[in-house]
Amino acid sequence: MGSLWGSIMLLCGVVLLRTEEGGAQQTKNNVPRLKLSYKDMLESNNLVTFEGLANSSAYHTFLLDEEKGRLVVGAKDHIFSFNLLNVSRDYAQIPWPASPTRRDECKWAGKDLSRECSNFIKVLQPFNQTHLYVCGTGAFHPVCSYLEVGKKPEDSVFRLEPHIENGRGKSPYDPKLHTASMLIDGELYAGTSADFMGRDFAIFRTLGKHHPIRTEQHDSRWLNDPRFVGVHLIPESDNPEDDKIYLFFKENAMDGEHAGKATHARIGQLCKNDLGGHRSLVNKWTTFLKARLICSVPGSNGIDTHFDELQDVFLMSTKDPKSPIIYAVFTTSSNIFKGSAVCMYSMTDIRRVFLGPYAHRDGPNYQWVPFQGRVPYPRPGTCPSKTFGGFDTTKDLPDEVVTFARSHPAMFNPVYPINNRPIIVKTDVDYQFTQIVVDKVEAEDGQYDVMFIGTDMGTILKVVSIPRGSWHDLEEVLLEEMTVFREPTAITAMELSTKQQQLYLGSDIGVSQMPLHRCEVYGKACAECCLARDPYCAWDGTECSRYFPMAKRRTRRQDIRNGDPLTQCSDLQHHDELNGQTTLLDKTVYGVENSSTFLECSPKSQRAMTYWQYQHSSDDRKQEIKSEERFIRTDQGLLIRTLNKKDSGIYLCQAVEHGFMQTLLKVTLEVIDTERLEDLLHRNEEATASAPAQDRSSPQETPNQKLWYRDFLSLVNHPTLNSVDEFCEQVWKRERKHRRQKAHLVQQVQIHQQQQQQQQQQQQKWKHLQERQKGRNRRTHELERAPRSV
Ligand SMILES: *[C@@H]1O[C@H](CO)[C@@H](O)[C@H](O)[C@H]1NC(C)=O
Ligand SMILES: *[C@@H]1O[C@H](CO)[C@@H](O)[C@H](O)[C@H]1NC(C)=O
Ligand SMILES: *[C@@H]1O[C@H](CO)[C@@H](O)[C@H](O)[C@H]1NC(C)=O
Ligand SMILES: *[C@@H]1O[C@H](CO)[C@@H](O)[C@H](O)[C@H]1NC(C)=O
Repeated sequence: MGSLWGSIMLLCGVVLLRTEEGGAQQTKNNVPRLKLSYKDMLESNNLVTFEGLANSSAYHTFLLDEEKGRLVVGAKDHIFSFNLLNVSRDYAQIPWPASPTRRDECKWAGKDLSRECSNFIKVLQPFNQTHLYVCGTGAFHPVCSYLEVGKKPEDSVFRLEPHIENGRGKSPYDPKLHTASMLIDGELYAGTSADFMGRDFAIFRTLGKHHPIRTEQHDSRWLNDPRFVGVHLIPESDNPEDDKIYLFFKENAMDGEHAGKATHARIGQLCKNDLGGHRSLVNKWTTFLKARLICSVPGSNGIDTHFDELQDVFLMSTKDPKSPIIYAVFTTSSNIFKGSAVCMYSMTDIRRVFLGPYAHRDGPNYQWVPFQGRVPYPRPGTCPSKTFGGFDTTKDLPDEVVTFARSHPAMFNPVYPINNRPIIVKTDVDYQFTQIVVDKVEAEDGQYDVMFIGTDMGTILKVVSIPRGSWHDLEEVLLEEMTVFREPTAITAMELSTKQQQLYLGSDIGVSQMPLHRCEVYGKACAECCLARDPYCAWDGTECSRYFPMAKRRTRRQDIRNGDPLTQCSDLQHHDELNGQTTLLDKTVYGVENSSTFLECSPKSQRAMTYWQYQHSSDDRKQEIKSEERFIRTDQGLLIRTLNKKDSGIYLCQAVEHGFMQTLLKVTLEVIDTERLEDLLHRNEEATASAPAQDRSSPQETPNQKLWYRDFLSLVNHPTLNSVDEFCEQVWKRERKHRRQKAHLVQQVQIHQQQQQQQQQQQQKWKHLQERQKGRNRRTHELERAPRSV
């Protein structure tokens, strides 16, 4: 029953969509192979959610503690501690609102009481073995404290110390502003704004035994209205004295750097052991340098399209701790042209730029040019250490070095991405990227970086980049697109736990959790598993399951690089059949002359292209059905209008993906002419009339049959109907009525369930109609080479 309604509804939906989807069959490389809605995710048990508290929001600050098995989350007026196994179970929460006095002051200062005058948690960093350091906006009065979490998981401590510290230079005042922070060796490095007005932006180092230190104030060459994205420590050599802190941010282009207003993405560097200058730059960084990060694609008109709005940065560690790979997510600044990109940077390229020419303002037009003069020694930006500098502390730096550093914080050359272009660009979609995490996955044919990209629409994209021939030619394969929040909302925090093999996601409305892989969703056959090209999954001989590089299994099949099931699975086909897994979904559909019919067939993979073949009878030659006036191919199936008696025959729905063809469906269509139909209806009416209505013990038909009959009539009653629109209009009208009747029918079905068993004879008459429903869930594969015409 549902299936026929489904088909009719689909028919109408499809007809409306058709003009938009028309070209979709040709270009399929950029669509996700699988697309899962929020409902799909919940129903397949692949999503666990924490729906948020009524009096909280902004679940944006994450701290993952894999050892203790907890995810600590900072939100509006609260700190949460979630169980990594299941975020919706036994979580702890600490309310930490701003005091009523602070809230009043905030309101009097003209701020929005409900949206701004709360304590939004912005900093959550490990402090020592037992405590975390935590800061919030405190209703435009930043505050910090220590959060006791215990040493071991068993301690199950979660307690906020009552002592509150001033949070200036650690958390912003305004909840809209971002802070990037990192606590190392008891010192907090934070890029933030340090005043009520949100004008004094700086990179601070606070806490610890040293005097607080910051970037030069009121100097737009140093920082020009920056928005901070991330802070990371990256060692420069094996000597910890050379350790550098790198900051990722975007800011307004420097005066004279760009015509008009523009945003530039930046990477900034500092020495961890910088103590400031002695006579000049006292308690200011003396080793701060910054460079522009470029992420752009060449345009057809010779003008590059720049992605300048840096959104997030992820450091992928390599064997060498000095050289992580930097993944950065960008969007465009333009309001008209919406686009996102992911670029990858190497530390070698970054270091080369910091060792290159300084940007210098000179010449008749006072332009930025590479500094050509003599650079003082030790070179500004070098850390005081025995390795390179030969001096002990920045306080010993010669005056000319400090003076030079003060006026030359920017490098002239920008940092270009690896291969000089983004690894992913998305411009034809209604969402933008917001977050990224990357997992290194060991597969049969090598190691792959799997990217999980969060969007501003509450979805996650799972992407793997696969070398096509060489490392320089990467093909990115969009494996899945999953909706992880109940409504569209930007994903603002993301953590990946290798230990749990789970991904944790934050947004304004809550926290969600999903597994990194769900191999079983790819299907029940070797070929489907192989086509998925998911490095996490392999065909293990019986099913698509998690791939473990250590476990050696003879039957294991996986081919990430080529995704070619022909080489991987051909020999298994026979085996599959023996296991009864290769049963073709085979059904019969009835159509009425001059009416329309819809043969539903949509492959699970959105990458697959479908096409149809027709055979008059089973031993006849197969021929491809081309779209024409009466046959309309859509992504959901085949629509046949104005059925002709000659259209009877066998229809095969084929899915082709990566040169591999599967037969998804075999439909036998029988076109009934009006005479036969009338005969049929007539007989049914007789049968109905002869049955006394009150005789419940032997009803003439089941409710199911009644409905079938009515649906059937809707087609039959309009034998001359060849306008699909007209048909749909009728169906929509009936659908509303149908919904009202549905509840009643469910009840009826239950009453009659037992009686149905006695109606075998009666059902004979309807056999041909019910045939259609049979084997709906059977599914299968036929290995064949794809024809060249596709
Ligand atoms: C998580 O916990 C909730 C509530 O106890 C439960 O309904 C759900 O099944 C659990 N999910 C998983 C994947 O364990
Ligand atoms: C918010 O509501 C929860 C109960 O759902 C309560 O435990 C908590 O104290 C409230 N927080 C604030 C800041 O009032
Ligand atoms: C960690 O720091 C807190 C706050 O300063 C302090 O109370 C606690 O004793 C420290 N714990 C350890 C193990 O040092
Ligand atoms: C179907 O349409 C054709 C041409 O429009 C007409 O000749 C024929 O009688 C119709 N058949 C039925 C059963 O209405």
